[in-house]
Amino acid sequence: VNKIMGSTLEQLSAQFSKALTAAFGPEFSETDPILGVASNPRFGDYQVNVALPLAKQLGQPPRQIAEKIVQNLSVDDLCEVPTIAGPGFINLTLKPSYLEDRLQSMQGDERLSVAVAAPPQKVVVDFSSPNIAKEMHVGHLRSTIIGDCIARVLEFQGHDVLRLNHVGDWGTQFGMLITYLREAYPSALTTSDALDIGDLVAFYKQSKLRFDADPEFQEASGQAVVKLQAGDQETLQAWQLLCDQSRREFDKIYQRLDIHLTERGESFYNPHLAAVIADLKETGLLVEDQGAQCVFLEGFTNKDGDPQPLIVQKSNGGYNYATTDLAALRYRIGQDSAQRIIYITDAGQANHFAQVFQVARRAGWIPDGVEIVHVPFGVVQGEDGKKLKTRSGETVRLRDLLDEAIASARSDLEQRIQAEERTETPEFIDEVARVVGMGAVKYADLSQNRTSNYIFSYDKMLALQGNTAPYLIYAYVRVQGISRKGNIDFSQQSQIDIQLNEEAELVLAKHLIQLGDVLDQVAAELLPNRLCLYLFELSQKYNQFYDRCPVLSSEEPARTSRLALCDLTAQTLKLGLSLLGIDVVERM
Ligand code: ARG
Repeated sequence: VNKIMGSTLEQLSAQFSKALTAAFGPEFSETDPILGVASNPRFGDYQVNVALPLAKQLGQPPRQIAEKIVQNLSVDDLCEVPTIAGPGFINLTLKPSYLEDRLQSMQGDERLSVAVAAPPQKVVVDFSSPNIAKEMHVGHLRSTIIGDCIARVLEFQGHDVLRLNHVGDWGTQFGMLITYLREAYPSALTTSDALDIGDLVAFYKQSKLRFDADPEFQEASGQAVVKLQAGDQETLQAWQLLCDQSRREFDKIYQRLDIHLTERGESFYNPHLAAVIADLKETGLLVEDQGAQCVFLEGFTNKDGDPQPLIVQKSNGGYNYATTDLAALRYRIGQDSAQRIIYITDAGQANHFAQVFQVARRAGWIPDGVEIVHVPFGVVQGEDGKKLKTRSGETVRLRDLLDEAIASARSDLEQRIQAEERTETPEFIDEVARVVGMGAVKYADLSQNRTSNYIFSYDKMLALQGNTAPYLIYAYVRVQGISRKGNIDFSQQSQIDIQLNEEAELVLAKHLIQLGDVLDQVAAELLPNRLCLYLFELSQKYNQFYDRCPVLSSEEPARTSRLALCDLTAQTLKLGLSLLGIDVVERM
């Protein structure tokens, strides 16, 4: 198999750099050719727009510049003769022979010719991060699903990804919780059994009620915090019990969603907090304001227009969420050698991260070449457009939400089975309902641009039509059904002769070869919806191909070539869905 190195975009881009250098001199070797997939396929497959900005820079007409670039360009292996349109756009159309070669090299390659990132980066993805003894709510679900997808894409590209769960397991609320634990479950600390206090969220509410009502309880809570921070054994044990209880609940959700995380909660950074303050003092950024230690921020003002402080140590000596994030940032850069740190939370925390990043930057803690980025997302809304609630107005529990998705998927499936007069085993039904239900929840979230709010609707996410997981899984099932009838095991074939003659074949082929470029885009912009759209469009292009080009009934060599296109489509769908954290089934 002839290995083609680099994606089509990379190859074209390299050729344009050469052409720019040849035409205008070595100082243009780094000039961005402004190359992208053409927005209108009538003009070609790719478009290069660099002639327009260059025209200004060089004081020459843009068309003339475009002509000079094309004269110096050697893309004969990839493209037909480039054309110049309008004021100076260069249009490129891929040659069928190039597409055939690329598809042939994808065939039999489990990476589908997607190159491994060179050099790989050490990346921290901070996601999910629920709070102990509080509800893991739909916001955390979004963070979990988006973070997992981003981590999967980066891992597939070959990066070294550390998936961190920055669990909220520290802070003054534990004084209250521990005090209540002692009061309500006096034997909890003396038995060796795992504590089962049932619903921890209810436990939290009850302890809050006690706290608000009783000054003595408040006093005891305050002392418990001091003891906890001083490392008192018995207090730490109580804290551990509460964390274990929450962890068991969180793990059930992660298991159902097939999500893997390394827990490194806020408490982990406790030993590193004092150094944050000491080092900030040394940089001269630290200011005492009404007894609190803080850094005055640039570009953030309070309602009177005065610079806003970021408090890093309260007047009582306690540290806060920001201090912990500063310590975590230093640890990830210093100890984990992270080159990129990605934080996935709702947009409501945008200011928190902007402030923490600013302070770290001004303190000189972010070396050149290290990228720190907050990936915000919008809120999950019910179908009424308000924040998602159950019918009775309660916050939705995640396990109920997942149960409901699977139950709906199951009832859709059972109806279909009945209508088609099939008989299926309970195991089959369980498996398909699980894959479709979990896939639907994940895909509904990932297919939205994450920055917008998203409306949670079981009906929409489970629809077999439209940009949904069931639609894509079903597309995969249909393609595989055809492949089975075609009866060629492509994984055993070394060299398939792929021939692209029909327009619909070319359109599908051009889409298939873009997977690597799409993943690059997802990794750069951290927008999983781009991958969703790519897969949705793939299944549409496949449908057009299948409508127009007979597969099983056509003569050789077209039959094998078209079956290879089916096989590549199925493999791309499966790989793409797996990067979204979504499984497939072979029948449904
Ligand atoms: N526990 C926080 C919350 O539930 C999210 C933590 C996000 N990560 C971080 N490094 N601050 O809102």
